[in-house]
Amino acid sequence: MKITSKQLRRKWLDFYIQHGHVDIGAVSLIGDGKTGVMFNVAGMQPLMPYLLGKPHQKGKRLTNVQGCVRTVDIDEVGDPTHFTFFEMMGNWSLGDYFKKEKTAWTIEILTKVFGLDKNKICSTVFAGNESAPRDDETANLLLSQGIKKENIFFLADNWWELDGTTHTPCGPDNEWFYPRWDKPTHPGVCDINCNCGRFVEIGNDVYMQYEKLDGNKYAALKNKNVDTGFGFERMLMFLNGVTDGYKTDLFSGVISFMENALNIKYGQDEQTTKSMRIIADHMRTTVMLIGDVNGILPSNIGAGYVLRRIMRRAIRHAKKINLPTDNLLDIAKIYIEQVYDEAYPLLKQKEEYILTSIKAEIDKFNKTLELGNKEFEKVISGLERKNQFMRANPNFVEDKTISGKSAFRLYDTFGFPIELTCEMAKERGYDVDIAGFNEAFKAHQELARTTNAGVFKGGLADNGEETTKLHTACHLMLAGLRHMFGTTIEQKGSNITSERLRFDFNFDRKLTDEEVKTLEDFVNNAINRKIDIVRLEMPFKQAKQQGAYGVHKAEEDEIVSIYKIGDVDFQICGGPHVANTSELKHFKIAKQEAVSAGVRRIKAVLN
Ligand code: ALA
Repeated sequence: MKITSKQLRRKWLDFYIQHGHVDIGAVSLIGDGKTGVMFNVAGMQPLMPYLLGKPHQKGKRLTNVQGCVRTVDIDEVGDPTHFTFFEMMGNWSLGDYFKKEKTAWTIEILTKVFGLDKNKICSTVFAGNESAPRDDETANLLLSQGIKKENIFFLADNWWELDGTTHTPCGPDNEWFYPRWDKPTHPGVCDINCNCGRFVEIGNDVYMQYEKLDGNKYAALKNKNVDTGFGFERMLMFLNGVTDGYKTDLFSGVISFMENALNIKYGQDEQTTKSMRIIADHMRTTVMLIGDVNGILPSNIGAGYVLRRIMRRAIRHAKKINLPTDNLLDIAKIYIEQVYDEAYPLLKQKEEYILTSIKAEIDKFNKTLELGNKEFEKVISGLERKNQFMRANPNFVEDKTISGKSAFRLYDTFGFPIELTCEMAKERGYDVDIAGFNEAFKAHQELARTTNAGVFKGGLADNGEETTKLHTACHLMLAGLRHMFGTTIEQKGSNITSERLRFDFNFDRKLTDEEVKTLEDFVNNAINRKIDIVRLEMPFKQAKQQGAYGVHKAEEDEIVSIYKIGDVDFQICGGPHVANTSELKHFKIAKQEAVSAGVRRIKAVLN
């Protein structure tokens, strides 16, 4: 059976809708900060409160296709089957149907909708342990529904829970496998336990009937739930008979674009193929993270830093295979306009914003790379010299390790993500003292923490709430302008009434409609992310070292006040500001005017 990505999404949703489920759509890829995870890593993650018993407003039978971002396997990306963004096809019963219906529907969708042969389907069930019994009930249901006895396996590790969490729903799981070819690879046992690659896991029904408590204890939940997850990319590959995810229609447009640009065939040369995959994967994740409802931008902290590392790795691989870095924008466009236009229509609405943001990061990284490469070469030649010198010593052991301190300097002063240093080192036959890097990183954070003389929550407003909000909006807007047009943009004046803000800045032309939209998106994005605003106090010199802007001249040791809006803005300012960006609700540009040569004015409102 051949099937496109768009068809597969539709078939999944239609099947479960026909069985009484409501399509709840996908939620943001960015973690809400409550669970402590940066990104959404599984379809069930946003549903955890409901799996624990809270009623869901859409009912007890839910389905969706949910995007997920997992970066634990990032080093594997480059092979045919690892991705940092992927989608999970899911359905849930919140205390409604249970094993009987679920096993029947999984078999029905696999055989009737996807055309798999029931005689070949293999299934694994929980073998039991001291916390929970063996899942004979599921095994018996599988048998009664025609799965062959010899194709059912009891396994001890068929248990699903979100790693590293407590007070979360969990339970035994029933995993589904299918052979890629019929003939056993070798004589003797060649079943799902064999690692020859004949059997592929295609999905997973978790019977969430327990809550994981502190101390690895489990309590039975009042509701018996079902949590299903089928890997979208994997299923798509499987149904199309390919073993390389980059050969599905999710990637084929991007891959053939690169083939044309490079005049080289995918698969022709191992290193180039690997880089093509890394670029294809990382640019897809970039588009998804920037274009998300709670979209983020590359930065030096938290999720923004993960995004920066992903983007810079893609840029570096583009350079490595001589793909012009501007082509990364074309690749982003293919995802936005062709691949995800139906499933992620928001990307199209935010297209300008996404492309501007990618371009800004490419430019920043290009500047960084030039200086950083020089520094990297210095580090390598330093080591080479040392080795040369030491060779005279009879007990000589060649030093092939870049020190943690050097790696940290490359990161801190030259903007080299640690992976980049590691990758470049590896290419030259060196490795990196990661533990030393982490130590230096920690020491630096500690220093930054203790030298911040004071941290205050925002919200010191006393001259009217509305004007305070508009003042915060001015900061966000300036941050947006600098993001779009570079850090030469500065405030040239402002005036705030309770109705509107007026803001002047150095720029020599009218913003286009797309640019206005991009700027509004930038500010609204920061509003939607509900970022806490904090006021810091520190000596002027230190503020500048940490990247604060807004005031040019002060005595080095003069204590200044800085407002930090997450990773969005870090500006020297007397305030006041609101405590959280969400107070601004929604930002809209009302008017633009020229003030004088090279100075433009924007009027904007909040509503
Ligand atoms: N929550 C299950 C998974 O992520 C379905 O595999």
